[in-house]
Order: sequence, then C-alpha cells, then structure tokens
Amino acid sequence: MWVVLPSRNLARLGGLSASLQSRPVNDTAIPATLAAEYDLPDPPNSSDGAASTVPRRTGRAPGDVAYPKAIKSFVRRAGRTTTGQAKALAELGPRVLLPYQPTALDFEAVFKDAARAGGPNDLQARPLVLEIGFGMGEATAHIAALLPDTRFVCCEVHEPGVGALLKRIGEQDLHNIRIIAHDAVEVIDHMLLLASLDGVHIFFPDPWHKKKHNKRRLIQAPLVAKLAARLKPGGYLHCATDWQPYAEQILEVLGAEPQLANRASASHPELAGYAPKPHYRPLTKFENRGIRLGHGVWDLVFERV
Ligand SMILES: C[S@@+](CC[C@H](N)C(=O)[O-])C[C@H]1O[C@@H](n2cnc3c(N)ncnc32)[C@H](O)[C@@H]1O
Repeated sequence: MWVVLPSRNLARLGGLSASLQSRPVNDTAIPATLAAEYDLPDPPNSSDGAASTVPRRTGRAPGDVAYPKAIKSFVRRAGRTTTGQAKALAELGPRVLLPYQPTALDFEAVFKDAARAGGPNDLQARPLVLEIGFGMGEATAHIAALLPDTRFVCCEVHEPGVGALLKRIGEQDLHNIRIIAHDAVEVIDHMLLLASLDGVHIFFPDPWHKKKHNKRRLIQAPLVAKLAARLKPGGYLHCATDWQPYAEQILEVLGAEPQLANRASASHPELAGYAPKPHYRPLTKFENRGIRLGHGVWDLVFERV
C-alpha cells in the first residue's frame, strides 16, 4: 500500500518532501494509517480498509454543534519538522510508529523484534510503560536507554515532537520505544487492555494556567480511573509538574482514586504526599532552566493496589 503525497502535505513534512519526490514511494515509506494521522489523502486502490478505520480530523466542530464532543487536553501547535526529523520519520517511522486503531493492541507482536541481546526473551519479564505527552522526547529517550529491557509505548500529538523522538531513537539506536502519534485519551480507551501496564509516565503535562482553561487539564478523575484500571496490581503512575496549583490538583485526584495508593506517603512523610524524583527521570533542559529561576518541581508516584 502506498500514498501519493500532494505538495501541500509534502511541505508539512518539511525536508522529507525532497527525498520523497526524488524516489518512488514504496509500501513502507509512509504507511497509509500514518498518512491518515498526518491528514494525508487515502491511498489509491486501498484494499484492506485500514485507513478508513482511522477517524479523520476536521480541526473544528461542525457549525451546528455548540461545543466539541470532548474537551481535548492539547491544541495542535504549529512547528517546523526539521530535515533530520523528516529523515528519521521516513527511515524509522515504519518500524516505530504505530497507527491509532480502535481495537486492543497486541504488544507481543508490536515488540517482537525488540528483545535485547543478553536481555530477557520472555515478554512477561519486560515491563510495559505508557508515556503520555513526551514533547520533544528528551526524557523518553534517556529513560529508554537507561532501562533497555522495559518497553515504552509513547503518545504525542505534536508532529515535530514525534520527529524529534524518532531522531533520538536513530541516534541512540533504541529498540524499546513505539510511538502512537495520536490523542492518548483515545489510545487508552481503545488500544490498552485492563491490567496490561507496569507503569505510566506523565511529565510536565500542559498546566492550562488560566482558570477558564483548567478543564483541559489531562489529569482529571475519569482519566485517572481509566489509567489505574489499565495498570497491573503493583504498577505505578508517575506524574511530574512545575506548576504548584496543578501539583495540588494531581495530588488530590490521585489521592481520591480508590485503585491507587500513594507510594511516597509512608516512605517520605516529610514531603506531604509528593515523592522524591525517581532516579530514572532526568533533569531536562526545560527543568534545569526552571530550577535556575527558582521554580519548584513536584513528582507524584502512586501504585495500583
Ligand atoms: C508541556 S509538554 C511536556 C512535554 C514533555 N513531557 C516534557 O517534559 O518536556 C506536554 C505535551 O503533552 C502533549 N499532549 C497533551 N495532551 C495530549 C494527549 N491527550 N495525547 C497525547 N499528547 C498530549 C502535548 O502535545 C505536549 O507536547
């Protein structure tokens, strides 16, 4: 299956355009479902109907609908995909990007090539962690390199961020990351089985500072209940934020979820419910800058009971 990319879409994929225009597009260059994620046209002569199962984004609610059906935790930011990111997208995309699908994902199939020489072969022995909103992927790549036997399924809707993480995956030769360039809320709803995850990472979710925008915050009781249900007993949910009012909201929401227990309250009562920074989470450029400016950072680690 292949896709003819019209020039308007090629422009959106930045430097990828030149390389794609100068060579034939084969069946792995840009998977049709990724093309759908990038709002490219359906491939001609599509026979398996896969692309048609991916909902099209229109970018706005129909005129006769007062409010969109679901409030999203993100807005699609403009951003330039660099030549290096586009190259990584073309080269690694077919192996690393997973299309959104409205049915449960088979992780055994998805990670079948990811076993590390010398690492455990048994998939059950390789923990599975979901990351929501990896931004430019700095922390994601660092943690994946540190924990090579853990499998990471990472969701992000910011297209240059997807390109940036793919580039890091190529540069660091990482084999334990898969990316879903789609709204994590829909991924949780449709692609993840109950009690299937060993961990969830949500680092610096958009704080939506203004009160009228607080409803867009990702971490709210209904989503936390769904995440908790997808964790295995003993699995963890790790959030970090540098916005104190959001930290307080997260602490309250996680504390009220009956499927979760606060790991830190017993071990670090002096932190009033917050956790020390776990060793695997790096200090990113963004966070270091915040620390220099005197901003606080709050980690929260809860466990599935
Ligand atoms: C403030 S950034 C933080 C990025 C990164 N975790 C870091 O620490 O630098 C939050 C990211 O979450 C992404 N995001 C927000 N809601 C999302 C959702 N529902 N699904 C996937 N990504 C989402 C945004 O696109 C954005 O890149």
